[in-house]
Amino acid sequence: MVSQRNFPVPLFTALFLAAATTSSASSLPTKANSTVPEYVLNYAPLVWLHSEDPFKPSDLLTHIRHTTPMINQTPISSFNSKLDLDNLADLNSVGFDHNQQVSLTSNDDPISLPLPSWLYGETPDSSGKIHNAIPCVVILVEKTPREIDAFFFYFYSYDQGGNITQVLEPLDSLFKDDRAVQDGMHFGDHIGDWEHNMIQFVDRKPTGIYYSQHSDGQGFGWDDPEVSKQDGRPIVYSALGSHANYASSGSHIHDDALIDYCDAGYKWDPILSAYFYQLEPTSNFTLTPLTTTIESASTYPTSFLYYTGRWGDDQYPDSDPRQKTVPYFNLKRFNAGPTGPRTKDLLRKGLFPDQRPKKSWIQWGVGVYMSLYPCCLRGWRVCMSGAALVGVGAGIAVGMRYVIREAMKRYRRRGYEKLGMEIPLHDVEARRDD
Ligand SMILES: *[C@@H]1O[C@H](CO)[C@@H](O)[C@H](O)[C@H]1NC(C)=O
Ligand SMILES: *[C@@H]1O[C@H](CO)[C@@H](O)[C@H](O)[C@H]1NC(C)=O
Ligand SMILES: *[C@@H]1O[C@H](CO)[C@@H](O)[C@H](O)[C@H]1NC(C)=O
Repeated sequence: MVSQRNFPVPLFTALFLAAATTSSASSLPTKANSTVPEYVLNYAPLVWLHSEDPFKPSDLLTHIRHTTPMINQTPISSFNSKLDLDNLADLNSVGFDHNQQVSLTSNDDPISLPLPSWLYGETPDSSGKIHNAIPCVVILVEKTPREIDAFFFYFYSYDQGGNITQVLEPLDSLFKDDRAVQDGMHFGDHIGDWEHNMIQFVDRKPTGIYYSQHSDGQGFGWDDPEVSKQDGRPIVYSALGSHANYASSGSHIHDDALIDYCDAGYKWDPILSAYFYQLEPTSNFTLTPLTTTIESASTYPTSFLYYTGRWGDDQYPDSDPRQKTVPYFNLKRFNAGPTGPRTKDLLRKGLFPDQRPKKSWIQWGVGVYMSLYPCCLRGWRVCMSGAALVGVGAGIAVGMRYVIREAMKRYRRRGYEKLGMEIPLHDVEARRDD
């Protein structure tokens, strides 16, 4: 604590008054062993899993137990501990000096169907409760005494990407002829899948909700008619295979050219089998377990949430017989598994993550091409479409980047106060996190 003498008296008085008024208004408990506030449970998301999705929410510990920590596809020889939720972060010190990423690598090859049963997770009962598994982590962040961000993380041991039936025309025709694609190969699969919703609360009232979707996500005001509710709880549709989260059922286009399918297959109430924590926003990522009235949980483990590595296999190299590349788009059959909740921007300014990595050139090109296709390109022959994709798409993408960059430079020279509005650069960037 800074001593009182160091402040001019009026400032100290102001701080003291602020502290006195805000601490009584705090919306989260302040001591360890406190319970999760009722309002967080009352407004928690209710998830609908897709009726045909074989890959269900999965137990975190079971997942760890079926994996081996590796760096560059090689088991870490110096590491012999039996890993669980209480010691997973011990891996953070391995490979740390060389910035090498640890990957929890599946002990089973994910190529021959049916896959090993642990990769399919657990199906909820008719009330929505998953038994014998903890696939959800809830983290509450007190941004200010009046503002709470509640993160609901969902874990699935396997993410199955799309196959050719999920690619919009005309792009589908560009690689339809590939043998593996014809055989129904899925691409973008990965071991381990972290998805999330975030609900913002102000004075214990929900004000907004974020849905994670592939490289990005969607945010809505709480009363937005697109967000449907059941008993006051927001409904979330988990897409077939990819588990991207949507506010409505039906087909959703993502990354401009791919389709996600959602339906009300199996109801999953994630908070019925979850770990709950509070994150200290001012400290260096410190989590405190919370208790709930739902289950008389003893002490929740925390180590696994400090782990910074991947929750699945690293991307297989092209030389690996399990790997395949879809022609033209460099889509891989297998991607790398994701990192955990720690890296999902828990201390964000708004509903969306603050850091939204850039789109690749090819994504820009596809986006531009797909937006031009219905009006101007439909009916062209496939090869012309391909040329148009590369030419028009990339050309416009480069052009727009150039224009934006030049505009930014000019505005920077003139000073930000003349900008008037911020160029929403983050809107054209994307994050690959699931
Ligand atoms: C929390 O609860 C555990 C077990 O009930 C107890 O051992 C521990 O001392 C408690 N901690 C605090 C800060 O109350
Ligand atoms: C594509 O995958 C879906 C399930 O995600 C499956 O029902 C469908 O039969 C597959 N299509 C092909 C052509 O393999
Ligand atoms: C926060 O923790 C990380 C990883 O443990 C460490 O590298 C970093 O130096 C810490 N930062 C501060 C401000 O303590």
